Amino acid sequence: MQFRVEALDQHYGSAQVLRHVDLTIAPGECMAVLGRNGAGKTTLLKCIMGVLAPTSGRVLLDELDATSWSPNRRSHAGLAYVPQGREIFSELTVGENIEAAARAHGTYGTAAMEDAIGVFPVLREMWKRSGGALSGGQQQQLAIARALVTEPKLLILDEPTEGIQPNIVAAIKEVLTSLKGRISILLVEQYLDFAIDVADAFLILSRGTIIEAGRAEAMSREHLTRHIAV
Ligand SMILES: Nc1ncnc2c1ncn2[C@@H]1O[C@H](COP(=O)(O)OP(=O)(O)OP(=O)(O)O)[C@@H](O)[C@H]1O
Ligand SMILES: [Mg+2]
Repeated sequence: MQFRVEALDQHYGSAQVLRHVDLTIAPGECMAVLGRNGAGKTTLLKCIMGVLAPTSGRVLLDELDATSWSPNRRSHAGLAYVPQGREIFSELTVGENIEAAARAHGTYGTAAMEDAIGVFPVLREMWKRSGGALSGGQQQQLAIARALVTEPKLLILDEPTEGIQPNIVAAIKEVLTSLKGRISILLVEQYLDFAIDVADAFLILSRGTIIEAGRAEAMSREHLTRHIAV
């Protein structure tokens, strides 16, 4: 999917949180959005997913204007969102979390569903446990698998490594790397080394404005650090 955001503005009351944000993600590429706490990263993802209506600007999926679409319609058009803090159903089992997403997207019982589950073997081991009984890292893996069950064209992740043990961070990195080429990824991340290993392009947000955008190979670690260091 060719994904584009055009001149996005967003306000909370009188406070402007996003200013004229433009971005393009090429098919099969991963774009990482970096920025300090409060820069507007989550707000940007919510506008892209349709959870928030932007004040102005457009969201384009393969050049189709999706700005007025509901989150559900965007999801069926190929966007999948793994929110910050994961938001799995903690009362439901691992299996029920995944099967609910699969039923909603017509992939229940298909190879696509099995492939998505197989991405993190721990999920089969924990299949009958309630989501709330999983560790933070396992919940993140569940949230990602649940997104993959919908066969997304663009996978959107908000700080997937936040508060997660290193071995699971490594497993998530491997999965995102292997997904690239087949689907596009929009990754909000504050863990710079993780982002550097996965991203093809970077965008740096500061107080709602893009202050830097470019190809990963054109940006050194030192350069990126300087922009996001507190
Ligand atoms: N519902 C809301 N109402 C009012 N202000 C909000 C709301 N949500 C976020 N904000 C403010 O908007 C700004 C951007 O918040 P946002 O959550 O998008 O930042 P972020 O870059 O995701 O931060 P973090 O790194 O902490 O997740 C912050 O100043 C925040 O306090
Ligand atoms: Mg955030």
